[in-house]
Amino acid sequence: MRWNWAALMALAVLAGCGDNLAGPPPAPPPALTFGPVGSLTAPSGRGGFRFGAASAATQIEDMNPSTDWYLYTRPTADGGLGQGVFVGDAAGGYTRALEDVQLLRDTHLDSYRFSIEWARIEPERDHIDEAALAHYDALIDALVAAHIRPVVTLHHFSNPVWVDDPRDTGCTNGPGDANLCGLGGPGGADVVAEMAEHAALLAARYGDRVDEWGTLNEPINYLLASQGLGVFPPGKRKLFSLLEEFVPVIRDYLAAHAAMYAAIKAADTVDADGDGVAAAVGLSLNVVDWVATNNHRPSDDPVDLAARDTAIYLYHHLVVEALTQGKFDPNLDGTLDEDQPTWRGTLDWLGVQYYFRTGVSGHRAVIPVVNLNPCANGLDFGACLPPEDITWCVPTMGYEFYADGLHDILVDFSTRYPALPLVVSESGIATEVGARRAETVVRILEAIARARAEGVDVRGYYHWSLFDNFEWAEGFVPRFGLYHVDYATFARTPTLGATVLGDIAARRGVTSDERVLYGGSGPMTPEPSVPADATSCLGLGE
Ligand code: BGC
Repeated sequence: MRWNWAALMALAVLAGCGDNLAGPPPAPPPALTFGPVGSLTAPSGRGGFRFGAASAATQIEDMNPSTDWYLYTRPTADGGLGQGVFVGDAAGGYTRALEDVQLLRDTHLDSYRFSIEWARIEPERDHIDEAALAHYDALIDALVAAHIRPVVTLHHFSNPVWVDDPRDTGCTNGPGDANLCGLGGPGGADVVAEMAEHAALLAARYGDRVDEWGTLNEPINYLLASQGLGVFPPGKRKLFSLLEEFVPVIRDYLAAHAAMYAAIKAADTVDADGDGVAAAVGLSLNVVDWVATNNHRPSDDPVDLAARDTAIYLYHHLVVEALTQGKFDPNLDGTLDEDQPTWRGTLDWLGVQYYFRTGVSGHRAVIPVVNLNPCANGLDFGACLPPEDITWCVPTMGYEFYADGLHDILVDFSTRYPALPLVVSESGIATEVGARRAETVVRILEAIARARAEGVDVRGYYHWSLFDNFEWAEGFVPRFGLYHVDYATFARTPTLGATVLGDIAARRGVTSDERVLYGGSGPMTPEPSVPADATSCLGLGE
């Protein structure tokens, strides 16, 4: 049964007006408190908490022509490939980087997770752009001066063109003719070494001020989109040759993580924040609340339950198991039986990025070997949930935001890896409505607080995103920002989400009143011009 505090209070008041009093109104929900700003990984940081926001360079930065995304999305008349919506000057976030630090201050955030654009630092192989390095120096200095802890992501969905040239999607695993393949992207012969070299450069340059590093952003999701389904550059479609072509790319990308981990540890030896840890290196995974389904209904058929468990393994656990144990699962059969000793113990923290709940079925499976059929991106075949089961449709993304799902996922990670500190390194919603964003903030914090009260070591929440930006294949329509961006002027304007998160971060807790107004699990404030029956969440492949 769905509920929210405001509805319960209203019911209680109504009941009090009648002859038959239904008893005292329910007690308001208690305030939630979060700990002080703490270390992401040191044992002393347990109990502490970060209130932050996240972004990624390609999604926000203007004047960024050396990325695969720029070439891929640029109109053909201008020499690009004309795929999807042109990223152009994105949200103007390069020119405005220092001004945007003020947005973090205004929101009382204590940490900022952002990425450094590899293509900008090294626009051509072995040519390092000193001005770009200096730009990120200035950003990091401004953050440190404002007591905002930088968490730097090294690889967030984009490459320099020389690493992965989207002009020839036929290239596989290595340089091809006419220099059109670049190095072949993740999976390419020299790419692991190049990524490690890049990581060493950044760690040496910024390690005196940065202690927290994320190597890869959502590795499985990224590889599925770029190399599996071809919706991100370079547009390769290897998913349907799963074991032969796609799995080797996963292996190489994880090898790149391990090489970057070692490079950062060697190059960043300065403990900038005094927590006893010079370099805390982790990565972020996208996690999903997978529900077993069949024929558009929740299902307890063992075939569907097995598909759900497989989806959880592939999305949530394959990467973590591989990097903690130093083993890989080349057949995706659930057994990690390939030794990768250099991978072992290369995860100091795990970022969890949660956006939605969705169905997965084992019937009419469309993906070979793993035998599952998810409701996502055009794949349905009965796996999508019916409209009446969809609580919070996010129409511009076509999925359902379901805050409670995060709690169970956090508990699952904590149970399996009790020594691994967790951080919600992204969570947010695409919406035009400030109240919906405020509801998202409070409900996600409620889910995190519930997990923390049960002993789960979650050390922070980074809202995605600080301001509206380029949402990859979806372009500029979905708005994820705490701050609204006017794309004609790049002006930033706070949403109610920024105000509410700012109040919460300033006092490091959620009040009872905020929970009454925005919390619980009842219906969210509707998105204007979108039918409340949420059928647009069923538009996936139907
Ligand atoms: C990615 C972001 C993206 C966000 C919202 C995450 O998967 O890391 O780059 O914008 O989700 O879709």
